[in-house]
Amino acid sequence: MKKKIMGAFLATFMAMSMLVGCGGGSTTTSTESNVSDSVESSDSASDEASADTTTGGGSGKIGVAMPTKDLQRWNQDGANMKSELEAAGYEVDLQYASNDINTQVSQIENMINSDCSMLVIASIDGDSLGTVLAQAKEKNIPVIAYDRLIMNSDAVTYYATFDNYMVGTKQGEYIKEKLDLDNAEGPFNIEIVTGDPGDNNARYFYGGAMDVLNPYIESGKLVVKSGQKEFEEVATANWATETAQSRMDAIISANYADGTVIDAVLCSNDSTALGVTNSLEANYTGAWPIITGQDCDVANVKNMLADKQSMSIFKDTRTLASKVVEMVDAVMKGGEAPINDTETYDNGSLVVPSFLCEPVFADKENYKELLVDSGYYTEDQLK
Ligand code: BGC
Repeated sequence: MKKKIMGAFLATFMAMSMLVGCGGGSTTTSTESNVSDSVESSDSASDEASADTTTGGGSGKIGVAMPTKDLQRWNQDGANMKSELEAAGYEVDLQYASNDINTQVSQIENMINSDCSMLVIASIDGDSLGTVLAQAKEKNIPVIAYDRLIMNSDAVTYYATFDNYMVGTKQGEYIKEKLDLDNAEGPFNIEIVTGDPGDNNARYFYGGAMDVLNPYIESGKLVVKSGQKEFEEVATANWATETAQSRMDAIISANYADGTVIDAVLCSNDSTALGVTNSLEANYTGAWPIITGQDCDVANVKNMLADKQSMSIFKDTRTLASKVVEMVDAVMKGGEAPINDTETYDNGSLVVPSFLCEPVFADKENYKELLVDSGYYTEDQLK
């Protein structure tokens, strides 16, 4: 009996934590499908963040450097960080760098020289910030690497992200289950599209997925007809939709133009999945493949509902922002930030103490509970 009650409690707890990832998420509202609108939409978020977080009474300026406004998620990340930090009492210098490394370096330099007390950075290229961050270290400015690890710098104080390897594992497992790789006869055709080589996350996404899929590729149950399997061959510069699309165009015309079926395309995120979907729509006549993604961008959730994309990893940007605000607040008040991993993320200079949030997958079956009932999107945004 006791066991049953415990089991029911655990099941409820697990269901709840599935919804909130690493916890501490505030109930911020809408994310706009229009990217620039979503930046403006943070007022209600700020009200609710102040109600929900235990932070407050902070003072000082925090520099928040984001890579680009081109992708929906970074707009949400920036807006959530700004509103939650302001609600906790901090001034915020939020900058976007149009995916241009030099722009990001000079934005960070400005933050250092304009008295920011702490930096939160989602890097464009994890390897390009060593020199500028040496200046931060000299001035004792703590640095949190946001979502993407900053490499080869001892100036990185903490790292906060969703568990990147687990993102890839979940994508690989989704394909494994949907194709029933352990039981079905196969062989099945699969193609692979991952992210930017300068983004340290991309290798974790790819590695997690390939650790699940490689045994089936080796046994011949999965066949990569293009022959492109290595990270360098399947990477997509800047995670660009157009680049993924033109690579897929070439793959289809060389391998699938005769009507050969593509059973699955492993895409590491939604911007690449969009490119693959566009290409398939234009060039491919066979049965629609399983397509993975990540971020639950509005366009991709719409594609999911229209059966053009099978799943997307949901990384609730509210959860990550809340956690980072908690970390900032702890450090600004002279304490230590909460962490739950001290082993995984070696940036070449140190193993960076990290907080890893747990990603979950969304598909047509569970999107309503995860994305609508949780207030992340309204049903109308997904029409
Ligand atoms: C993030 C993903 C995002 C990708 C492209 C990665 O570092 O973790 O969520 O889709 O960058 O911006």
